[in-house]
Amino acid sequence: MILVVGGAGYIGSHLIKELVNSEKVIVLDNLSMGHDESVD
Ligand SMILES: NC(=O)c1ccc[n+]([C@@H]2O[C@H](COP(=O)([O-])OP(=O)(O)OC[C@H]3O[C@@H](n4cnc5c(N)ncnc54)[C@H](O)[C@@H]3O)[C@@H](O)[C@H]2O)c1
Repeated sequence: MILVVGGAGYIGSHLIKELVNSEKVIVLDNLSMGHDESVD
């Protein structure tokens, strides 16, 4: 299981799209910059 901090942002959201193919992923993001629609 991998924790991605800032996962609703640009780099994080692209990273997650790759990681979910092989890992369980948890996203922590305060949405100060990112967009919640970037994360399933
Ligand atoms: N379309 C594009 O080409 C595009 C779009 C955005 C950014 N960029 C580039 O990408 C780089 C930046 O991308 P990034 O992913 O590092 O930045 P980002 O701002 O996209 O993502 C950072 C994420 O961290 C979150 N965050 C900030 N402080 C936090 C905290 N204390 N706790 C939890 N979450 C927190 C923000 O809400 C955001 O979602 C820059 O070089 C920028 O120019 C390109």
